[in-house]
Amino acid sequence: MSNKDTFFLSTPIYYVNDAPHIGHAYTTVAGDVLTRWRRQRGEKVWYLTGTDEHGTKVQRAAEANNVSPKMWVDKLVKEAWQPVLKTIDAVNDDFLRTTEERHIKGVQKFWELVKSRGFVYQAEYQGPYCVGCEEFKLPGDLNEVAGEQLCPVHGKPVEILSENNWFFKLSEFGPQLLAHYEKNPEAVQPESAYNEVVSFIKQGLVDISMSRSAVSWGIKLPWEDNQVVYVWFDALLNYVTASGFEADKDLFEKTWPADVHLVGKDILRFHAVYWPAMLLAAGLPLPKCVFAHGWLLVGGEKMSKTKLTGISPNQIVDYVGSDAFRYYFLSAIKFGQDGSFSWEDLTARYKAELANGLGNLASRLTAMVGKYFENVLPAPDIYNDEDKKIIELAKNAAVAADQAMVKLDFSSGINQIRGIVEATNLYITEQEPWKVAKDPTQEKRLATILYVVAELLRIVAVLYHPVMPKSSQLLWEGLGAAEVLGELSGQLVSTTFEFGLLPVGAKTSKGESLFPQLADDE
Ligand code: ME8
Ligand code: MG
Repeated sequence: MSNKDTFFLSTPIYYVNDAPHIGHAYTTVAGDVLTRWRRQRGEKVWYLTGTDEHGTKVQRAAEANNVSPKMWVDKLVKEAWQPVLKTIDAVNDDFLRTTEERHIKGVQKFWELVKSRGFVYQAEYQGPYCVGCEEFKLPGDLNEVAGEQLCPVHGKPVEILSENNWFFKLSEFGPQLLAHYEKNPEAVQPESAYNEVVSFIKQGLVDISMSRSAVSWGIKLPWEDNQVVYVWFDALLNYVTASGFEADKDLFEKTWPADVHLVGKDILRFHAVYWPAMLLAAGLPLPKCVFAHGWLLVGGEKMSKTKLTGISPNQIVDYVGSDAFRYYFLSAIKFGQDGSFSWEDLTARYKAELANGLGNLASRLTAMVGKYFENVLPAPDIYNDEDKKIIELAKNAAVAADQAMVKLDFSSGINQIRGIVEATNLYITEQEPWKVAKDPTQEKRLATILYVVAELLRIVAVLYHPVMPKSSQLLWEGLGAAEVLGELSGQLVSTTFEFGLLPVGAKTSKGESLFPQLADDE
């Protein structure tokens, strides 16, 4: 029987050839929103991210900067990759660096095991290699331009290698992988990614180098001192070396297999073909799902460190804050598809959906409870049809948001929550509480309207917390909910399927604006 009790989600571990750009932050934010959401469903969650520090690409970046690879990665990880988690407000449970001892040991044990099971042999590799991808390329992978073989991802010429390496018997695992994917169609998502993987496997798999003899910056083969493990066959193992493979049996049984490996579509083949084949070779269970999202594009091409087209997360967060960063990328782009970032679109959505939408709604409510009820949430009277209608709408939206979020359909999930905000703003406009307030015989009606709005905002705060932790916290405090209902992060998503949980008598406050004016508007 399996002891697994934890929802385990990983991001790729990123190459530290340069500082992060918004493409990396995009994956990490998506993982953060999903894991926060799962936590608020009451699930035990383990969120892993980290850095991929070996290989030619990182080694060359260090050389170009005249420092040793170790100095280079230490500096970049400390000054750029770890701080960016804070910038985007991500809360991971572990951060694995492939230069750590726990990883190095695990990688060596893993390959010794796979070799002892007969899936590793010595042979000569001759063929193209893209350093940008750190990938042995197959003939069909390349674009020929003016007589040169170019990597289609990086647009750069490949290098031709000729090395005596150790090979992994990938070719043996085609039938098993196909059978696995036929039985588990949800194991690669979205569907386009699934189809790509299945057709790649059907073309026939060829054995692949698992070591490099011409590279020195890496993990030594346990059985041959002057070769290192091929960087991908080092990096992929982070998912198990971090989760306790061969080191912490208890942790490993509770977490493995991973529930979701979140990746960009550029590295789908590694995660959905090579990685499960490695696991089969070692006799380990396969991850439940590899989800490949699309690319953030610049001028129609993938934003890239190698091509120096990256925009830094700080640039955007300094302008609109981390909440709007998170909200924007997950709501404006359908997860799984490519998307282009634009400052105009970001600004327009910030103003319309966040500042004038949610921010305005929150300040209208707290201002009116302040003015008419001295900041004490009044008891509702009988709900009329209009009230019942919006209560029903909110319940349905909350259920639909939950269903979308767990499917990683972030834009639909956010759309549902935004629907509650828009409906509530409309409700206020139609109910005209400021007019009701002028008639002293209607005090109960006024109380009901404001209670309904406050309770809808409680629901919005809980649902938005995984997406926008900071502003939903401000909203939570403004509603006076923290004192009576406890920490926002402790509120279960399922509490939003119910209406009427915010206690009468809660003390509201005006607080600071959820989404302040942008710098260039002042
Ligand atoms: O591939 N749009 O690291 P990497 C969207 N070390 N996402 C993007 C992106 C873009 N323009 N650019 C990068 C590696 N990403 C390996 C992974 S895992 C065992 C080893 C995100 O630094 C996306 O998640 O090139 C992509 O798959 C990843 O960063 C690649 O980061
Ligand atoms: Mg890359």
